[in-house]
Formats: sequence, C-alpha cells, structure tokens
Amino acid sequence: MTDITNIYKKYQAQTFPSPSLLHVKSASGSYIKDYDDKEYLDFVAGVSACSIGHCNKQVTTAVKNQINKYSHVMVYGEYIQDPQYKLAKLLADNLPESLSTSYFTNSGAEAIEGAIKLAKRINKRSEIIYCKDSYHGSTHGALSVMGNEEYKSNYRPLIPDCKQIIYNKLESLEKITDKTSAVIVETIQGASGFIEASQDFLNQLKKKCIVNNVLIIFDEIQTCFGRTGKLFGFEHTKIVPDILCIAKGMGGGYPIGAFISSWENMNKLTHNPKLGHITTFGGHPIGCTASYATLNYILNNNIIDSINEKEELFRKLLVHKKIKSISGKGLMLSLDLHDSIETIRVVESCMKDGLLLFYFLFNDSSVRITPPLTITNKEIEKGCKILLKNLD
Ligand SMILES: Cc1ncc(COP(=O)(O)O)c(C=O)c1O
Repeated sequence: MTDITNIYKKYQAQTFPSPSLLHVKSASGSYIKDYDDKEYLDFVAGVSACSIGHCNKQVTTAVKNQINKYSHVMVYGEYIQDPQYKLAKLLADNLPESLSTSYFTNSGAEAIEGAIKLAKRINKRSEIIYCKDSYHGSTHGALSVMGNEEYKSNYRPLIPDCKQIIYNKLESLEKITDKTSAVIVETIQGASGFIEASQDFLNQLKKKCIVNNVLIIFDEIQTCFGRTGKLFGFEHTKIVPDILCIAKGMGGGYPIGAFISSWENMNKLTHNPKLGHITTFGGHPIGCTASYATLNYILNNNIIDSINEKEELFRKLLVHKKIKSISGKGLMLSLDLHDSIETIRVVESCMKDGLLLFYFLFNDSSVRITPPLTITNKEIEKGCKILLKNLD
C-alpha cells in the first residue's frame, strides 16, 4: 500500500471494507483522471450527482464569480442572498403552483428531515408511512423511513410511528388512515435497482391520501433535474406531491438539497415556535449558485430532450446473455445480472479497462449506470463496448 493509501485508510473514516481506491487527480466532462493520468469514462456521475458532467464550464464560472462576491454570510433565512432567491424563483417557474416555495438544505437526507417535520406541522399527526426497499438517507429521521431492516436494526430506537408498506402493492395502501401524516415515496426506488412506481399504485395512493387528508412526499433526490427524461420524475406520473424533496443532481456536483411545498405550508415553519427549523449552511450561496447554473444549463441546452434517445442507445447496445434485464428510466439504469459475484467481477474488471460503474445498496446482483446527462452517444458506445467485453 502506498503512503497515501495508508493515510487515507487510517485517518479518514471509512464506509466500506474494500473501497476502489481510485485516487482522483482531476475530472472533466464524462471523465475522471487518476494520478497515473489514466482516464476513466464515468458511468456513475458521483452516484447521479454530477448531472451535467464534471467541472461544467458554466457552473464553474458561476461558482468562481460567486466566491469573489461572498461565501457564507448568515444562517439560512435571515438575509436576502441573490443565489438563494434566484434559485427559489427558477424552481417555482418550473414546478406546479402548489410547489412554489423552497427551503434549501445541505443534502438529501436533510431535505427528508425537513419534509417529515413540515408534514407533522401541516396536519398535526405523527404517523409516517414509507415503502419497503426505500432509501431516503442515513440520518436518524431518514433512517426511520428506510425500507431495509438490516440498515436500521443497529440504531433503534428510531423515530416512532413509522410504518412500512409494500411498494407497488395496492393492498398495502390499506395501512394509510386518518392517523397518517404523510406517505413518503420515491418515484423510482434508488437503492434497490431502479424500480419504478406503477401508475396504478400512485393513483390509488393519491386517492387514499385525499380521502384521509394525508400528505404525499415524493423523494426525487436521485431523479431530479432531468435524469428520467423529465425535469422531475413525478411529471411522468401526473401526480403532484404535497412536498417534494430534491438534492444530488440539482447541484451539478455541489452540495445542496431542498424540500419544496406551497407558501402556506412552508410559512408554518416561521412561527410556534419561530426558528423551528433552522440551518447554518443550508442554502449556501455556492451551492445555490451551482444549482441555478445547473438548472439553467439543463433548460437552455435541450439536455432533457436527449435523455430518451440515450436510454434507447444503452438498451440497444447492452444485449448479452448475462444481462437478465435492464430496469430504470432515462439515464438511471440498472443492469440486472444473474448473481452478485458476477456484479463485483464486472465492476472491477471494467474499472481496470477505464470504465466506472457502481453498485446498489440493497441489490447486489445489479450494476448501476447513471452517467452524466451530458454524455455523448460516442461515449455511450465506448463504455458499452467495454462493458460487453467484460461480461464475456
Ligand atoms: C432517493 C434518495 N433519497 C435520499 C438520499 C440521501 O441523500 P444524501 O446522500 O444527499 O443525504 C439519496 C442518496 O443517495 C437518495 O438516492
């Protein structure tokens, strides 16, 4: 092991017994370069976060300009800061009227925490319903609504009154009652191999929630800003949530998240008590600047129009007897293989050949493909060739 690897492994807290140890020198567009100047085509994009490629010029320039003006000046919500209100307005311009008002956070998990608190304020109930195999983040509140017991069991007690239903199972919706505050759902489950919510399930969920005056929270932290071929995943479903959570790709590689609802709902956080939900760095001017530049870039460069075509190209090219199926939508694809040994072998050998792929948290027989939305057809062809060679 090199000195640097030793330092990294000893002094930096680890999350995984065998990390890939790619030592990043630089990253640009769809590529990451290591210190041997080896280039890796990136089919992971920082787990869906680097939505418009690495070091996008428009984002980098905007960030540099903002750094020269000011960085942190005050806790969230006190001062008028251009990057924050401009992003909030641009989001509102691209969302239904009932999702007009954004509260900015540092991360996806924090957006979930905020959404759960907001739901409790809106209907003064405590029960939160979540789906089996869901992932909403690693903080205690987000963990409480995670649909995987293995990841929760060491951390109990978690927040009370959280109940699990089965994703896409209509009978399961019976658990929603007039005691329920909110149901939290991913439009595409991100940790279990990109499983889409069925339209039928969402329609029935909506009906049940209307009857019982229950709020719908959509976790669009991984689907947001175009990854599924629409700006937000819920646009495929025609169902508008009461609270929308976004993060990851919204920052174009910079940390930011948001929970979004109507002005009336959001205004509840200003009183009884005042400052009932506060954050020091949430809505940081650099994150908001990056997100504003990212959203403008996506809107002004027809990025979303190209997603379906790119998905089709992936599906056309990735035909192999070892691929059982390809699930997911847009550039959020899961290669479902036959076993977990094969998954690890393919990811590791593709990396040796200069292609980055990744795993899923709750599904060890699938390979994650979430490239930057700006990936070119040529890059898709190049990456798929490497993948097919390593499947052989
Ligand atoms: C669907 C979903 N929700 C929530 C989160 C948590 O976001 P963060 O890691 O920014 O806390 C993630 C992260 O992967 C996610 O994919």
